[in-house]
Amino acid sequence: MSLFNINAKSFNELPEDQDVYIFGLFSDKGIPEAFKLAHPKLSEQISLALENGEFKAKLNQSIILYSPGCKTAKRFIAVGLGESDKYTADYLRQAAATAAKRTLELKVKNLAVEFMGEEFLNSEDAQALAEGLVMGSYRFLNYKKADDEYSGIENVVVLSDSDISTALDYGMSVSAGVILARDLGNHPSNIATPTYLADTAETIAKTGGMKLTIYEREDFEKLGFGGIQGVAQGSDVPPKFIILEYMGGGKEAKTLGLVGKGLTFDSGGISIKPSAGMDEMKFDMLGGAAVLGIMSVVAEIKPKLNIIAIVPATENMNGGEAYKPGDILTAYNGKTIEILNTDAEGRLILADGLAYITDKFELDGLVDFATLTGAVVVALGHRYSGVMTNDQDFADQLIAVGEKTQDRVWQMPLDDEYAEDIKSKIADIKNTGAAREAGTIAAGAFLREFVKEGTAWCHVDIAGSGWLKKGRSYQPEGPTGAGVRLIMELIRSWE
Ligand code: BES
Ligand code: ZN
Ligand code: ZN
Repeated sequence: MSLFNINAKSFNELPEDQDVYIFGLFSDKGIPEAFKLAHPKLSEQISLALENGEFKAKLNQSIILYSPGCKTAKRFIAVGLGESDKYTADYLRQAAATAAKRTLELKVKNLAVEFMGEEFLNSEDAQALAEGLVMGSYRFLNYKKADDEYSGIENVVVLSDSDISTALDYGMSVSAGVILARDLGNHPSNIATPTYLADTAETIAKTGGMKLTIYEREDFEKLGFGGIQGVAQGSDVPPKFIILEYMGGGKEAKTLGLVGKGLTFDSGGISIKPSAGMDEMKFDMLGGAAVLGIMSVVAEIKPKLNIIAIVPATENMNGGEAYKPGDILTAYNGKTIEILNTDAEGRLILADGLAYITDKFELDGLVDFATLTGAVVVALGHRYSGVMTNDQDFADQLIAVGEKTQDRVWQMPLDDEYAEDIKSKIADIKNTGAAREAGTIAAGAFLREFVKEGTAWCHVDIAGSGWLKKGRSYQPEGPTGAGVRLIMELIRSWE
C-alpha cells in the first residue's frame, strides 16, 4: 500500500493542469471574495447552483463543475463544510473525505485543494485535511481484479500561505497507521494469521528500532500463559504472543502500555457462533491491528517517550483439543478462571497480556483495545468505543483526546461491585457475567483482575466502533481503524 504524495504550496504558486481542484464552502457564507477574484466564471456557476438550491454547501454535499479554458484544473469539486459557527477540524476531515471519494469516482490522479478561500490554514486543519483525504480514499482491492488501470490518487497539492508541511506530513503518518489497521482487518483469517501479525510487528520493529519478542505455543506452558494457551488449543494455526518495546524517551520519560486482542478468527469454539455473519469474525483482531497501526506510526515519527505493546494472537477454533465449557485455566498472574462460554475468549488472551505487561514493565498508563463484546454494539452502536477504567484521571485524558480526534470513547461504569458478576463457585473468577446483564462491563470487570494494582488502565471495547456495516465520510464499510488516531493524540499530549 502506498499513499499519495502531498505538498503544501502558497497561493502565488497556484499549480496548473490539475485533474481536479477541490474547494470547500460554508453553507452560510457565500463565496469568499478571494475565490471570486481568482475564479470569476466558476463563481458564477456556483452562485447559480446556490440560488437554485441544487447545492447548499451542507456538510459533505458536493458538486462537480467545469470551467472551460481554465489553466488551473480540468474540473472543480465544490464540497460543503456546513454552517460556519458549528465548524470543527472534523468537518474539514469529513469534507476532504467526501471530495476524495468524488475524485476516485472520476478516476483521476492529481489534485489541488484549498480551504474555502482561507489563505492561512492552521495546523489542526491541515492535519485533518490530510487525514480526510487518506482515510476517505481508502479502498481494499488486494483480492479483487481491477476492471481498469486506475490506481488511485497520486499527487495532492494543498494551498495555504501558512507553513503547513509538518502538519500535513503528520496527518499522512497517522492515517497510514489507520490504513494498516484497516488492511489487517480486511485480510481474511487464512492470510492475516497470528504469524502474519508477528511478521507485521517484525517490519515495524525494524523500521522503528524496537525490540521484538515473540512467544510461541511451546513457551506458553513454562511462562504460565494459561489464558492464550487454553484458547489456542482448538486451533492448529500457530498462536503468537507478540511484544514490541519502543524506548524513544529514555529513563526519565513516561512509558505507555498497549495491549490489543489479536483473535484472528472467532468461531466461538465449542460454544459455537451461528453461521450467519460468522465471516465477520475475521475482524476479531482489530484491537491488535489498532496496536500495530499505532506502533507503525510510532516507528516513523519516533515520539520522545517509551511504549510497550503486546498483541496476544490466536484463532478460537473447535479442534479436537479445544478448551471446553467447565474447564479451568490459570492465567499469568495465577488467577484461576472457570470457562462457562468458550466464545468469551478475548478476555482470556488479554488476561495474560495485561498480567504480563503490568508485571514486567513500569507503566504510567495502560490501554487495551478489543472487539470484546456484542453488548457494546447494543449499548453504543458503531459510533463510540466503550471505555472502562480503574483511574478516572486517565480515562478523562482518553475521553478528551477522543473528542479532539473524533475517534470517540464513551465511559461505562466499573464500580467494584461488578466483580460480583464474575464470581465463580469453583475458581477465582468465571469468564462470563450474569446472563444478558451488562455484558460489556462484566468483561471490563474480568480484565481488571489481571491489571496489577497501581497501574492506571483503560479498557476500550471497539466491537462497535471498529467495524461499520455502512460507511460514512472518512470511514468506509468494514474496519475503521478505531483507536489509532486516539492513541497518537494521547502520545502527543504525553510527549
Ligand atoms: N468477538 C466477540 C465479540 C463480538 C460479538 C463482537 C459480536 C462483535 C459482534 C467475543 O469474543 C464474543 O464472542 N463475546 C461474547 C461474550 C459472551 C459469550 C459472554 C458476546 O459478546 O456475545
Ligand atoms: Zn468470542
Ligand atoms: Zn472474540
